[in-house]
Amino acid sequence: MEITNVEEYQEIAKQKLPKMVYDYYASGAEDQWTLQENRNAFTRILFRPRILIDVSKIDMTTTVLGFKISMPIMIAPSAMQKMAHPEGEYATARAAAAAGTIMTLSSWATSSVEEVASTGPGIRFFQLYVYKDRNVVAQLVRRAEKAGFKAIALTVDTPRLGRREADIKNRFTLPPYLTLKNFEGLDLGKMDKADDSGLASYVAGQIDRTLSWQDVKWLQTITSLPILVKGVITAEDTRLAIQAGSAGIIVSNHGARQLDYVPATIMALEEVVKAAQGRVPVFLDGGVRRGTDVFKALALGASGIFIGRPVVFSLAAEGELGVRKVLQMMRDEFELTMALSGCRSLKEITRDHVFTEWDRPRVLPRL
Ligand code: FNR
Repeated sequence: MEITNVEEYQEIAKQKLPKMVYDYYASGAEDQWTLQENRNAFTRILFRPRILIDVSKIDMTTTVLGFKISMPIMIAPSAMQKMAHPEGEYATARAAAAAGTIMTLSSWATSSVEEVASTGPGIRFFQLYVYKDRNVVAQLVRRAEKAGFKAIALTVDTPRLGRREADIKNRFTLPPYLTLKNFEGLDLGKMDKADDSGLASYVAGQIDRTLSWQDVKWLQTITSLPILVKGVITAEDTRLAIQAGSAGIIVSNHGARQLDYVPATIMALEEVVKAAQGRVPVFLDGGVRRGTDVFKALALGASGIFIGRPVVFSLAAEGELGVRKVLQMMRDEFELTMALSGCRSLKEITRDHVFTEWDRPRVLPRL
């Protein structure tokens, strides 16, 4: 079957992958309300396209933390990609580099920072989970820096793992032939089988629940890399993140895998953008599957978006080629959306190009 949109990879991945692996990739927390809402919310935002503008040339390039990329579509960190395909993170890194965009490597990757760096040139960020043992963290950040990673995406929504019931039922654990490669030499690369989700037990044992804003400052004392705070969904935390020295904010609810019944990220975006007041760039992830979704996020003030699940599903289906196709389809759809909305560059995308249910009617009906 010919694939014509990124969502179609999910069904193929479901057919191909062992149930334990597919469920881990696909699941959200508890009732999975936020999981559905991350997608549904985009359907409540509609366009106000402008017409009769020469759109023969469309420029989608942008700059993120000073790095020029081909489009505002980037790759979110997702853990354990070798469960999807033997080339795992290597394939993702190559596909991102070929598309001229940024890949974020998960702390819990099944390939190390050095291995991913060795796949060739490319702009890459490193996602950090803070372990109780701060020596482990300091060492890992130094390794990422040395391997040429350009920023740290500090995940702040995971003091404990969200309750993903499929992983509990499946007794999810990392297959024995794989390790969390960044931690291999530190005796933290394996995940024990538990009477529960093996990952939830691993997090409970290793990840630091005391993490606070002071640690964002501490992180700046051990690295000169810019820090993106990933997992902010309120104005209050936006202001605190900026005060604590973050170089940017990622509006994220962890792909609906942590706290259920938080709003869709696209619903929380404007609140964060307003609180940031242009002091730092604001990015978004969660449910972005179409070029129209990318446009909507930019119209509401995001500087760029990240995609998560489409990467692991396309990896499972077709390896590097699949991830390349996902990035290409998203790019083509986004370009078309820009053209049909009358926008030739990202700066021409404005708030007036969309309307939402929370906007006041522009023309009040005559009573
Ligand atoms: C994730 N996510 C994630 N986030 C993070 O900070 N570190 C990680 O290791 C992971 N791992 C991970 C695995 C899988 C299978 C998924 C689906 C997600 C969250 C991820 O970075 C991102 O926030 C969401 O995936 C974005 O939502 P969509 O695009 O998947 O809807």
